[in-house]
Amino acid sequence: MLRTLLFLSLTALASAAEISFSRQIAPILIDQCVECHRSGKAKGGYRLDIIEQMLKAGDSKTSPLVASKPDESELYRLIATHEEDDRMPKKADALPEKEMKLIHEWIASGAKIDVADKKAALRSIVPEQEKAQAPEKYPHPLPVTALALNPTGTTLACSGYFETTLWDAATGKLQARIGGMPERVLALAWISKTQLAVAGGVPGRSGEVWLVNPMKPTERKRLVSARDCLLAMVASPDGKLLACGGADNQVRCFELPSGKLKWQIEPHADWIMGMAFSPDSQHLATASRDRTAKRIDASKGEIMATFTGHTCAVLSVAFSPDSKETISGDVEGEIRRWDSSGDAKKDGTLKPGGRTEMLVLGFLDAETPLVAMGSGAVVSMDAKGRKTKDQITRYEDRVNALLLQRYGKTVRIITVCHDGKVRIHEIGKAQPVLQFLASPGW
Ligand code: HEC
Repeated sequence: MLRTLLFLSLTALASAAEISFSRQIAPILIDQCVECHRSGKAKGGYRLDIIEQMLKAGDSKTSPLVASKPDESELYRLIATHEEDDRMPKKADALPEKEMKLIHEWIASGAKIDVADKKAALRSIVPEQEKAQAPEKYPHPLPVTALALNPTGTTLACSGYFETTLWDAATGKLQARIGGMPERVLALAWISKTQLAVAGGVPGRSGEVWLVNPMKPTERKRLVSARDCLLAMVASPDGKLLACGGADNQVRCFELPSGKLKWQIEPHADWIMGMAFSPDSQHLATASRDRTAKRIDASKGEIMATFTGHTCAVLSVAFSPDSKETISGDVEGEIRRWDSSGDAKKDGTLKPGGRTEMLVLGFLDAETPLVAMGSGAVVSMDAKGRKTKDQITRYEDRVNALLLQRYGKTVRIITVCHDGKVRIHEIGKAQPVLQFLASPGW
C-alpha cells in the first residue's frame, strides 16, 4: 500500500515537471508571435498560428524546431540572439528570461506537443485558463481605476479585481458582478444597453479588451489580446466606434456594434496614457508618455496633427465642445491648449494645481475646462484668465476617472479615487449627493 502511494506521488512529480505545450508554450507564442506569423501575415514566410505550420521552415529553410536541440532550432535561436535586429519578437523587447528558459527546456526535453490534432489552431488548444476569481468579499478597499455610466444614467460600472462591478447610481447598492475580466480593469465604456466595453490587463504581460452584454454577461467577445496592458479606451459619442491604446504603443479602432477591427496604427513611440473622441465623433486624440499628443482622423486612422508643446509625459486629453480645440495635461501639472493643426494657442498654458499629475480632462461648458488631479482635487478653470475658477472637490487621494452627467440644468460630476470610493457631486453643493466604496463585501 505504502509502496503504491509512494509510486503514485513520484509519477505525479515527474509529470508535473514536464512542460505542457498547450498550457505553457502556446500562450507565449499567441501573445508574442502570432500577430506577425499567421494566415494573411506570415512574416519571413513563417506561420505559427497552426501547429502543423509552426513545424515547417519559413523563407530561411532552417527548421524552426529540432527536438532536443534548442540551439539548432531557428525559433529558439531567434528569440535568444543578442543581435537586436534579428531577434524575435521583432521590434520589441526580448522575451522575459523565464519564458525564454521555458521554451529552451521544452525543446531540450523533446519539443513534445500534447495535442493529437496537428491541424489545430494554437488559440483553440489553450485550456480555458483557470483564471483567478474575483474574491467573494474584498479584504480591503481596492482603488477604483475605471468608471462608466449606462446610457440611461441609472447604473455605474466600476473596475474590480478580475471583474467589473455594477452599482445603482441612485443608492450605491451593488447590482451585479461581471467576472472573468482582466486582472486590472483600466478603462470602461458603456456603449448601449447591451454593450459594455472593458479594457485592461497586466503590465508587461497581457492586454485585453472585452465587449460584454451587461444584461447577460455570458454573451461576451474578446476584441483584443495584446502583449501589453491596455491603458485607455473610448467610444465615439455617436456609438459607432471604439478605440483603445496602451503599453504596446498601438491604437486600435473597432466598428460597433460588430467589434470588427477598422484600423490599427502605432502613432506613438511610448505608452498611450489617455484618449478622447471629439464631440462630433470625427477625431480621436491620444496622449502619450513620448511627450506628444496627437489628433487622428477616426474614420481612416491617419494622424492629422502632432502637438509637441509638452516637456514631459502627457497623461490626458479632451476636445472642446465645438471639436476644434484640444487640451492635454501632463505629469508635471501643465495643461496646454492647441488647435486642429497642432499649433499651441497663445496664452495656452494652464497651471491649475502645482506639480501634480493632470489625470483626467473635460469641459464643463465651452469656456470652462475641468481637471481631476493626482493631488485629489477637481477644479474648473478660466481658460482665458489662465487660472483656477472653482475648486469643485478635494479628496484625500488621486482621482483616477471622472464623468460628467447632465440633467437639464443640473450637472453632476462622478469621480472614482485611489481610496476605493465613488462620489457623485452636484455643481453648487458642497457635499457629495452620494458616496460609496466600490469593493463588494467591504
Ligand atoms: C512585429 C512582427 C513580428 C513578431 C511579433 C514576431 N516576428 Fe518572427 N519574424 C518577423 C519578420 C519580419 C521575420 C523575417 C525575418 C526578419 O525580418 O528578421 C520573422 C522571421 C521569423 C522566423 C524565421 C522564419 C524563416 O524561416 O525565415 C522565425 C522562426 C520567427 N520569426 C519566430 C518568431 C517567434 C517565435 C516570435 C515570438 C516570440 C516572433 N517571430 C515574433 C516579424 C515578427
